[in-house]
Amino acid sequence: MEESQSYIEFILDGNVCRLDFHAEGVSPTTTLLKYLRSLPNHKGAKEGCAEGDCGACTVVLAELSQGGNLQYKAVNSCLIFLPVVHGKQIITIENLEKDGRLHPIQLAYYDHHASQCGYCTPGFIMTTFPLYKSAIKLDDEKIRHELAGNLCRCTGYKPIIDATKSTCSNPTKDHFSEEEGSIKKLLNEIKNNSKGIYISGNGQVYYSPKSLADVLKYRAENSDTLIISGATDIALQVTKKHEKLAHILDLSQISELKSFQKKQNEISIGSGLPLSEIKDLVKEEFPVLAEMLHWFGSTQIRNLATLGGNIVSASPIGDSLPVLMAYKAQIVLQSVDGERIVPVENFISGYRKTVLAENEIVTRIIIPKTGEGIIVRFYKNSKRNDLDISSVSAAFRVKLNQNKIVDIAIYYGGMAATPVKAIKTEASLFNNEWNKKTVEEAILILSEEFKPISDARAEAAGRRIMAGNLLLKFWFDTTKNHHR
Ligand SMILES: Cc1cc2nc3c(=O)[nH]c(=O)nc-3n(C[C@H](O)[C@H](O)[C@H](O)COP(=O)(O)OP(=O)(O)OC[C@H]3O[C@@H](n4cnc5c(N)ncnc54)[C@H](O)[C@@H]3O)c2cc1C
Ligand code: FES
Ligand code: FES
Repeated sequence: MEESQSYIEFILDGNVCRLDFHAEGVSPTTTLLKYLRSLPNHKGAKEGCAEGDCGACTVVLAELSQGGNLQYKAVNSCLIFLPVVHGKQIITIENLEKDGRLHPIQLAYYDHHASQCGYCTPGFIMTTFPLYKSAIKLDDEKIRHELAGNLCRCTGYKPIIDATKSTCSNPTKDHFSEEEGSIKKLLNEIKNNSKGIYISGNGQVYYSPKSLADVLKYRAENSDTLIISGATDIALQVTKKHEKLAHILDLSQISELKSFQKKQNEISIGSGLPLSEIKDLVKEEFPVLAEMLHWFGSTQIRNLATLGGNIVSASPIGDSLPVLMAYKAQIVLQSVDGERIVPVENFISGYRKTVLAENEIVTRIIIPKTGEGIIVRFYKNSKRNDLDISSVSAAFRVKLNQNKIVDIAIYYGGMAATPVKAIKTEASLFNNEWNKKTVEEAILILSEEFKPISDARAEAAGRRIMAGNLLLKFWFDTTKNHHR
């Protein structure tokens, strides 16, 4: 293995802090929330749900972008294992006030009576902080969307939205603006002096390498490793199931996996690029992918979660798989022996199973540009719009020639143990007219094609109805000239 270190370094309260896991006997799967709450002066972040749903634990991580700027991101500290904060600045609610003066966001909360019991308030304010720093224009709808990962049970949302709007519409320089230069310098120093992080002891091994070559070598020699990228799926095994994860290979520090390339006929998305960054990069050419990402989880989840993680978790209700199938995406798998490319449709081999070999990882997702006249759409049906998992989702691709169907592909999530292609339904539509009658006939075939399960999200019969209605909605949308 390459040279490694058993400690991490991060900035907290303006100072570089070093935490040596061996010397201090700390488990590497300790969450950032648990760590902060063990400190005397950082108890503002709270635990509400320990699974990314309530936002009470929200803190901000500042990190250097590829271009060397500071990027502020709101994250759920309940889902972050400590080694992930290596090389980052942690900003908590306690850091906002300076020399006895409240931060403008805090003042706005005071002025608008936006806090009652206060349990949720630090989380709301920390989700607002990156919005304040980015100085983007916000209306009520955008604020509601950005704050969807924070729940308040007593104040009511109107004062919170009003406070957010008033402070973010007129951001002024705060003490963070003055400190940016010195924080960047410190983060660069940590980065330049870092080795891979290797922590072993107490029945746990945690390895966070610095380069892709080190990842592949380690994976080849250690087939029992559990890979984490954003850890928004895996962290729940610790926080909800209280499992002790024995052997982790953490990809979060690998810059090669955060790449994004645009070529003439395709784009290539690094498996470790956070979803929040992908959305803006794809919105012109792949608007349906951008729209799926818009409704995925919450701001805090999108800042951590990755496309690689969503694909490999192979959930029957994962949102990215049907969309990627409709776009005919390809998954690039890499091992020490080289690369292989697998169409996304062939990547899932069973319930939460993939064709990934023991020595491989997913490095990139390639999406070819859609040809002339091809219409792609994705619909997500969930109990509420924000921060919810799909009951049924559907992605469609169609090409028409004078209203005759010359290409059709239909994919559903939530209808079987894996995302599925509705082959019989497609066959009934192919070469027919794209009109209400043929679509209604296809829906009858669709209702027999799958045997979905009944669970807390929906009954089997309800799922069949949703699937049919989504196909009808797709037809309806295409006839309204919303072509993309
Ligand atoms: C509150 C909340 C809301 C959510 N909302 C949604 C939602 O709206 N839609 C949805 O689809 N999902 C949702 N999820 C699920 C989860 O966020 C996604 O599946 C996410 O994309 C996982 O990415 P990650 O990087 O966090 O994965 P991780 O947790 O790091 O890993 C997930 C799986 O992928 C494997 N893995 C990760 N990266 C690689 C790689 N490069 N190569 C090989 N294996 C890899 C891991 O071993 C693991 O098996 C939500 C989760 C939470 C907690
Ligand atoms: S404690 Fe609820 S999101 Fe973290
Ligand atoms: S102020 Fe009480 S939960 Fe929000």
